[in-house]
Amino acid sequence: MVAGNWKMNKTLQEGVALATELKQTVVNPKCAVVIGTPFIHLATVAELLKDSPIKVAAENCADKVSGAYTGEVSAAMVASTGAEYCILGHSERRAYYHETPEILREKVLLALENNLKPIFCIGEVKEEREAGCQNEVVKAQLEGSVFNLTAEQWANITLAYEPVWAIGTGLTATPDQAQEMHAYIRSLIAEKYGKQVADDTTILYGGSCNAKNAAELFANPDVDGGLIGGASLKAPDFITIIQAR
Ligand code: PGA
Repeated sequence: MVAGNWKMNKTLQEGVALATELKQTVVNPKCAVVIGTPFIHLATVAELLKDSPIKVAAENCADKVSGAYTGEVSAAMVASTGAEYCILGHSERRAYYHETPEILREKVLLALENNLKPIFCIGEVKEEREAGCQNEVVKAQLEGSVFNLTAEQWANITLAYEPVWAIGTGLTATPDQAQEMHAYIRSLIAEKYGKQVADDTTILYGGSCNAKNAAELFANPDVDGGLIGGASLKAPDFITIIQAR
């Protein structure tokens, strides 16, 4: 899978223009292609892409079902737009909006109840990598928010390993660092759900993945694709990354 994460970029009109450009070129991709857009864009972009292989993701959803939560958007509302995926646990949500493992556990469950497929993000910050405790951090993130799921629920989960020090910084993890962590994550899934489930789980790499380095990252046996921020905002770059998968 190659998934874009537009973050808080593009007006509705700019988003429609980008989705239109992608739709014209991404006709028969060799991998799943998803674009994560702001809530505002979802209904329009999902309608635009309904006959396209490109699927649409929200970048977040509420941790509550419905009711008096001004400004929030529920998983049911996201699903009603035609979006099929929901990015959850992104490090920017954890850091700036104080999303805890418990809150994320609720969001994942609500997404699944509404037939949305979570793209669940995990990854350590720079200090944790420097201290050599990245494995413990990632394990705790999985245990805190998604290892409560049944194997049946797990089948709908995509993981994205995004070292926080690599996001938007131009400091990509080396292919070896990515492979090592992805293999570790897969071993944790195997311990919990068995080898077959682990082999079937899509684990994306994210963090300054771009048109130049994507092929090298994706060549690793445990890197099943990418979650792309900045480089997903320009159609030619995003298309090159899709072709690299
Ligand atoms: P980046 O963002 O590609 O701009 O580093 C990745 C992400 O945050 O998903």
